[in-house]
Amino acid sequence: MKLLSRGFFISFEGGEASGKSTQAKKLYEYLKAEGFPVVLTHEPGGTDISERIRQILLDKDNLGMCALTELFLYFASRAQHVFEVIKPALKENKIVISDRYHDSTMAYQGEGRGVPKVKIKEMNDFATSGIIPDITFLIDVPPQVALKRLEQFDRIEREDIEFHKRVRSEYLQLARENEKRFVIIDGMADIETIFEQIKEKVNDFIVSNGVLNE
Ligand code: TMP
Repeated sequence: MKLLSRGFFISFEGGEASGKSTQAKKLYEYLKAEGFPVVLTHEPGGTDISERIRQILLDKDNLGMCALTELFLYFASRAQHVFEVIKPALKENKIVISDRYHDSTMAYQGEGRGVPKVKIKEMNDFATSGIIPDITFLIDVPPQVALKRLEQFDRIEREDIEFHKRVRSEYLQLARENEKRFVIIDGMADIETIFEQIKEKVNDFIVSNGVLNE
């Protein structure tokens, strides 16, 4: 097993059916095979308590859920996830890969639902103890294309196309505002082409930050 001088954190973001989960999994398998200590997790979810919150959030029968309840449930899921999985793994000098994290809330609840973003920013800081990813891969696909990939729709996926367009535009805006952390990837490319870009970026990060103990 390779030893790292410090842990680091990678998040994957994007709209529905962007292919980000496939890429997060591929990166996990690759790093594991290379002998790195790595953890793959996701939001909402990643712990027993957070998975139960996920079920409430995505249940398509919960149509009466108001925007603030939705918001607080995402933060509750995140707080538990950071406490139970992300913080301990980083402390143990592991690489953490999370399929969605705090940017999802800015995109979906902020731009999608219209919750004030200053509030979301503040609560994200609070729920995560200020832990932000070192690298965020944004897998960008126009929602008009991506939604056609789905056969069934959960409570969020069944929102109209305008909602999903707002989500995409906020992601692109976040990427412009956080250039150092974000890598925008064309999600229309094939799986292996996308993965090559991700692999290259992560290997560059490991070398340029000297995180590998030789
Ligand atoms: P998933 O389909 O990537 O597992 O994500 C579940 C859904 O939750 C997806 O529609 C995006 C949504 N979501 C939010 O609306 N806000 C959030 O903060 C997170 C993490 C996910």
